[in-house]
Amino acid sequence: MYIQHNISLKSYNTFGIDVTAKYFISVSSIEDLKTVLQLKDHPNKLFLGGGSNILLTKDQEALVIHLNIKGIEIVSEVEDAVTVKACAGENWHEFVLWCLNKGYGGIENLSLIPGNVGTAPIQNIGAYGVELKDTFVSCEALSITNNTLKTFSKADCNFDYRNSIFKQQAKGKYVITSVTFKLSKKNHKIHANYGAIASQLELMKVNTPTITDISNAVIAIRESKLPNPKEIGNSGSFFKNPVIPKTQYQSLLQSFNDMPSYPVSNDEVKVPAGWLIEKAGFKGKRFGNYGVHKKQALVLVNYGNAKGEDILGLSRLIQKTIERIFGIPIEAEVNIL
Ligand code: EPU
Repeated sequence: MYIQHNISLKSYNTFGIDVTAKYFISVSSIEDLKTVLQLKDHPNKLFLGGGSNILLTKDQEALVIHLNIKGIEIVSEVEDAVTVKACAGENWHEFVLWCLNKGYGGIENLSLIPGNVGTAPIQNIGAYGVELKDTFVSCEALSITNNTLKTFSKADCNFDYRNSIFKQQAKGKYVITSVTFKLSKKNHKIHANYGAIASQLELMKVNTPTITDISNAVIAIRESKLPNPKEIGNSGSFFKNPVIPKTQYQSLLQSFNDMPSYPVSNDEVKVPAGWLIEKAGFKGKRFGNYGVHKKQALVLVNYGNAKGEDILGLSRLIQKTIERIFGIPIEAEVNIL
């Protein structure tokens, strides 16, 4: 384990932005991580997991710590359920496939989400009617301030839509080192009714879907709508879907009668940001090296060698335009660094 100098971060972020880390270190154990946290010469530290939820807008002066702690272990099991602990540096989708291979159910709807296991709880990753919190038991995190491990229970994490304690009070204070899940071994709960899953299963001629069928359906849907970061740089949904008062939604319906919404509470609804962005005319718009994806307006893309600042500028233009047309503020989901 040693510090490298002036390393390009291009292959460490799914947006494929080419900025430099003045200091870079990859850690593969908790012990290494503890050692690195004690380095007095580098008070500013930036932790990097799968790099799938960041937009890098400048060269990084902080010590970039690449979290590469690997390992998956079965903690306990009973007849119909298993508790599995996965280390932070495991690739999320590979972990999903590992579970499917063993016949463990619960995270199949979260197939093909980019990123690593250790960053999944931070924004409570979710797709196709399932969120990480549904199978989450606990996670272990190293305190940056006192270098000791702390276990966060599900209640401690305060999970919400694309939100957790790690984006709120605990932000910047802990590094997640492993996550523990409770998965089913039989009588799996199948979530096949969300979005395009049902029609995809029909297309696949599947009547009674298994967990693997669900995963295959989700993979097919994602591959048809979302750009593969290996081909076109992106960070998945760039914005969160905004939650607005029902009264505001009802008055917007007067002018935009096809505006979709999902119920959130008695007096709030969630509106798909992708719909707002498409309606504002940005879907598929290309500005040289970067733009808005042609099949999913929620995703900003780097066609090659784009600057993070340019993509940030585009995101601000989109935010301003949406606010002007609909009076709805939309918030970035990715972290801007
Ligand atoms: N829509 C449009 N135009 C677009 C995109 C979407 O009109 O360009 C409309 C769709 O017609 C639909 C609605 O918006 O009525 C919702 O679209 P979709 O089901 O594709 O989901 P989303 O709200 O755009 C969310 C997540 C995705 C997740 C999908 C599926 C957020 C911010 N994003 O997207 O997550 O895969 O649901 O569950 O909640 C990610 O976080 O990176 C991500 C891809």
